[in-house]
Amino acid sequence: MKTKLTLYFLFCLNILLAQNTIIIESSEYAIVIEKDSLKRLQYVYFGSKASNLNDYKSIDKQLRFEVKDAADIPNHIYTPNGTWNTAEPALQILHSDGNPSTELEYEKHIKENLGNGVSLTTITLVDPIYKTEVLLFYKVYHEENVFEQWSSIKNNELQAIVLKKYASANLYFKNNDFFLTQYHGAWGSEMQPETHRLTSGIKVLDSKLGTRSNLYAPTNFILSLDGIAKEDAGKVLLGSLAWSGNYRFEFEKDRFNNLRLIAGANNFAAEYKLGANHAFETPHFIYTYSEKGKNQASINMHRWSRKYRIHDGEGNRLTLLNNWEATQFNFNEKKIIALLDEAKEIGVDAFLLDDGWFGNKYPRNNDNAGLGDWEVNQNKLPNGLSNLIKKANKRGVKFGIWIEPEMVNPKSELYQNHLDWVIRQPNRKEYYYRNQLVLDLSNQEVQSHVFAVFDNLFIKNPDIGFVKWDANSIIYNAYSEYLARKKLPQSHLYFEYVKGLYKVLERVREKYPKVPIMLCSGGGGRVDYGALQYFTEFWPSDNTNPLDRIFMHWEYSYFYPAIAMSSHVTNWNKESSIKFRTDVASIGKLGFDIELEKLSKEEKEFCKQALFNYKSFQNIIWYGDMYRLQDPYENPIASLQYVNHEKTSSVVFSFLVSHRFQTFYSKEPILFKGLDPKKIYKIEEVNLFGGEKTEIDQKATYTGEYLMKFGFNPIVSDKRKSVVLKLSEITL
Ligand code: GLA
Repeated sequence: MKTKLTLYFLFCLNILLAQNTIIIESSEYAIVIEKDSLKRLQYVYFGSKASNLNDYKSIDKQLRFEVKDAADIPNHIYTPNGTWNTAEPALQILHSDGNPSTELEYEKHIKENLGNGVSLTTITLVDPIYKTEVLLFYKVYHEENVFEQWSSIKNNELQAIVLKKYASANLYFKNNDFFLTQYHGAWGSEMQPETHRLTSGIKVLDSKLGTRSNLYAPTNFILSLDGIAKEDAGKVLLGSLAWSGNYRFEFEKDRFNNLRLIAGANNFAAEYKLGANHAFETPHFIYTYSEKGKNQASINMHRWSRKYRIHDGEGNRLTLLNNWEATQFNFNEKKIIALLDEAKEIGVDAFLLDDGWFGNKYPRNNDNAGLGDWEVNQNKLPNGLSNLIKKANKRGVKFGIWIEPEMVNPKSELYQNHLDWVIRQPNRKEYYYRNQLVLDLSNQEVQSHVFAVFDNLFIKNPDIGFVKWDANSIIYNAYSEYLARKKLPQSHLYFEYVKGLYKVLERVREKYPKVPIMLCSGGGGRVDYGALQYFTEFWPSDNTNPLDRIFMHWEYSYFYPAIAMSSHVTNWNKESSIKFRTDVASIGKLGFDIELEKLSKEEKEFCKQALFNYKSFQNIIWYGDMYRLQDPYENPIASLQYVNHEKTSSVVFSFLVSHRFQTFYSKEPILFKGLDPKKIYKIEEVNLFGGEKTEIDQKATYTGEYLMKFGFNPIVSDKRKSVVLKLSEITL
């Protein structure tokens, strides 16, 4: 009897809890939402999860966000504009009768288990007067502690409404010492970090470039809630908007010293007119949270992105020889065949023919002509691509090709024949970025054209084994002839461009699910989790100076796993040895973009051996966990480590990043991470140049505990500027 009563009590409590409290949990963290007397939903908790569900119920009693005599609250889960709100809104609507206000009342929520460790909570909010329906989606990847949020706004009026602001997510964090790491960049200097304390007021990060936001201001940030985040301590949120166009993040420190975060597509010049009965879905905001510092957060992100996001994220990858740095536009069939021989000799999986292979009326001999005219250039390649593909395959090497199908040079047949396909102001001077313009992907005809560029290549050459998809221009003179013709607002262009791009990529992937495609954008201009669902990897930067790449890789690695980061040995910074350049390229997805014939015999032999070594540990780098051991910004020696899931093998890379004499020698051991303290490991140095002997005692063995507690000295010096160590468990 007593048990029945207890059960009944618990049942009632759960109903009560379910009515007023929405709990969204991952394996370690929870978001708790409460309904107030005006049916407004408010965040009351974000942090590590409670072992007893009922504890969440009383959190709000401890909070005092409702101020006496005032109606506004700072912690609404999707702050509407024009009623009680006085802070930055997440949603701003101009209703069909001209009324600019919106109220959102809780209507219902459902939680679904989507299987495969994923759940989805959908909250429905409705405006009691205008019946606008807002769905808020919270997708949780349980094990990885990754959250994905987006919203959908439905117009239930009889006429169109205007969405003036339409965030993907609106979050609220309690605490009082917030630090933000944001990124900026330009061509050749992508992913430059800047960390600072957030003060009261609003800090905005945004992009208005249209196509490639990563170039000036990447779509990622690190937010720490309790002082500057450390690798292994601190409350950290890594955030990323899965969107390849304009975005906007707002960090508002409010009057309670708490932080409001609003994330979504940029509403700058992008009001959206939404017809009656239509719904508008926002981009997805992805974040992971860790109370164990940045390293755990990035491990979460890597595991999540490989499993759920990056195209074929847990699949195989091809090592490449690319010809861009080696030849630029200046090549012919003979030269390419010679490179195919080199590809075979060195042992890469594929050869990638870069820019310059197309255009006849306007040959693509430099970057000011031919872009858009995708026929093989008869002078350079008289026997077509098919001959090269045959020759590559005969050598056991796959053949890859570069395209940039979204863009056009004014000096091209495409521009001459389809001016209305080009984004440009009809009455104004044209402005160019790298001598080119962007095609109008809001137009379905253009979408079909871009798809056909890809499709025709494969129809004619079904054996193409790899594609590099580039996008070098930003959008100037944003104006669409197509939208004008359709009498649609020009302010739809930025949004519809990205939607159009995704439609094309969707079609590409439907027909060609297996082809590896590299996402490139004049270097690392477009890197985001919206695009990466269609791509197997990305090109982080045209800057392949190994020293710069160490720093860039370090920053990119907070958000993206090594399997997705193409990393090539080139002639940038030739002063550094081929060993240094190859060791650095080995921290990502290794490839070469160099004239191997110009290397000495010894250097070439080294590259061959290093590639062979890479193949022996690539699985650890591609699928294992990454640990940042020593920060290049703070130490003369940078060090990072990859460990496989079983913790039986690991690779540690250490690089000298300072040229000051006093910093040349690594005096201190480096503390390894991620190993099994009880396992015993041996350490072997690989990638030794020529007949060089290692300074490491390769016979010694160490427990994981020793290596993580006391550390290990890789003996980096001006004579040994890069050291690659392979750890393997030994069973006694
Ligand atoms: C961009 C890419 C390079 C190369 C050139 C070709 O700059 O980032 O890797 O493909 O275009 O024009």
